[in-house]
Amino acid sequence: MHTPRPPVPPFDDPRLEGGAAFAEGRIVPLSDAKISLFDWGFTRSDATYDVASTWQGAFFRLDDHIERFFASLDKMRLRIPYDRAGLREVLHRCVRAGGLQDAYVAMVCTRGVPPRGARDPRLAENRFYAYALPFVWIAPREKQLAGIDLHISQRQRIAPESVDPTVKNYHWMDLVQSLYDAYELGRDTSCVVDAAGHITEGPGFNVFAVKNGVVRTAARGVLEGVSRRTAIELCQRLGIALDVSPLPAQALREADEVFLTSTGGGVLPIAKIDGQPLPQPFPGPVTTRLYDAYWALHDEPAYRDAVEYR
Ligand SMILES: Cc1ncc(COP(=O)(O)O)c(C=O)c1O
Repeated sequence: MHTPRPPVPPFDDPRLEGGAAFAEGRIVPLSDAKISLFDWGFTRSDATYDVASTWQGAFFRLDDHIERFFASLDKMRLRIPYDRAGLREVLHRCVRAGGLQDAYVAMVCTRGVPPRGARDPRLAENRFYAYALPFVWIAPREKQLAGIDLHISQRQRIAPESVDPTVKNYHWMDLVQSLYDAYELGRDTSCVVDAAGHITEGPGFNVFAVKNGVVRTAARGVLEGVSRRTAIELCQRLGIALDVSPLPAQALREADEVFLTSTGGGVLPIAKIDGQPLPQPFPGPVTTRLYDAYWALHDEPAYRDAVEYR
């Protein structure tokens, strides 16, 4: 079990202890980071974002997060006043300013505020924000140890024809309501389906099933998670059979092992589906191999981008 490290003082400013944001072109304490009530990012969910992480003082796959963010910006017709190198520098500054070793690092672009009364998004000046917080897990440590119980919701993820799920987005009403369903049933978290009843994703993660040694995950209708990609690449590297194709809910219920992937924890083993324990001892052998390989990858120079603390 991987345990986050505490912040490393000194911070640029004591008010930045525990995290820092970048807003209006400068580093500010998290409590000072605010957006306008009239920003379409708030009133229309008209925004895109990405979340990277640092672990033990180094970003993991930062270039991949930056690439995905720029691809999302293009698809949304949004612009930020930085190129890739400039964005990387802002993200490093947030982590450095907050003195964080293990961090959740977000970059956000909103449509902005159009002139009063205007309804034309082209008239808005896009806004860019970033922030770094102590690492945020998909599930608390005690839950991870006890074994996460995943609810398969009947709610449908907003259709990919409506909102492109490969653009990381804040259209979470389906996901949030599915969480309420899960809590009411005494489960820990949830995933939602598509119109055909195939598993898509959950609030902040992709979903994988393992059956007879084959790892399966949805091909489309989901965010192409950087951790999902890591798990897929690790299967290829470790010679684990892989099937990226529609994943019926029943296949998840009948799986030998189930795990989630997210920047908020990497490979997260699931112990139960809707209260039913999975047949393999928890965590299962394939999940354990991928979990170990995921964390080992954090030491490989190609995946690390070290933060330079002053
Ligand atoms: C809806 C959704 N799916 C999947 C993921 C996992 O993506 P990643 O592995 O890049 O964190 C996230 C991450 O926040 C998400 O919000």
